[in-house]
Amino acid sequence: MAYSIAIDGPAGAGKSTIAKIVAGKLGFIYVDTGAMYRAIALYLTRNQIEGTDEAAVAAAMDQVEVSIRHEEGEQIVLLNGERVNHLLRTEEVSRMASVSSQIAAVRTRLVELQRTLARTTDVIMDGRDIGTVVLPDAGLKIYLTADAHVRALRRYKELTERGEPCDLEAIEQDIIERDHRDMTREISPLKKAEDAVEVDTSAMTIDEVAERILALYRERRQTA
Ligand code: DC
Repeated sequence: MAYSIAIDGPAGAGKSTIAKIVAGKLGFIYVDTGAMYRAIALYLTRNQIEGTDEAAVAAAMDQVEVSIRHEEGEQIVLLNGERVNHLLRTEEVSRMASVSSQIAAVRTRLVELQRTLARTTDVIMDGRDIGTVVLPDAGLKIYLTADAHVRALRRYKELTERGEPCDLEAIEQDIIERDHRDMTREISPLKKAEDAVEVDTSAMTIDEVAERILALYRERRQTA
């Protein structure tokens, strides 16, 4: 049977960085579910559809096909056949994804895709509702957190290194707002699954976090 590791947590906690490392060490496929929500958000922004307009978003879902494939460990996201990875990380798409991911029609579609991927392959999947909704039977569930200020600093550093002008205070404010939306939405809000292990990465290095998760995985498999 395929084994699943679920990683949930707020934006900027380090989920994708950690999940990629752990996937590489274990030979698992890394599935970034946020990128799927972002692909739909990109479609909505391109077509000037309001993310809060439930009927319009639900109707748009009939026009959208999101699929993913993996090339050398990298997840390729296809939006109606177009490779869109390089278009998913803008602030505009981030904001839209946080809003449109609240719509039931969007979630139903993507959860189905995520479950299909995990059925046949060993995966480490990151998102907001993986341990609680998508893969409730995952072998290991991690809830990755970090202080909002630390997360804002990480994002600031990442943008600055890329040469993108940005404002630390605005980033922190945006993170706090996004957390609030993700945690208080009606459908599948971000929360720690009861059987998830919480790892606070505020004062940990990337290697330390990856090691901790690998250790938890080994423990689970030994006792399974
Ligand atoms: O992880 P991320 O920042 O790329 O996610 C983008 C948005 O999608 C974020 O606002 C939360 C939402 N999301 C979600 O609702 N459920 C998931 N499983 C993954 C992401």
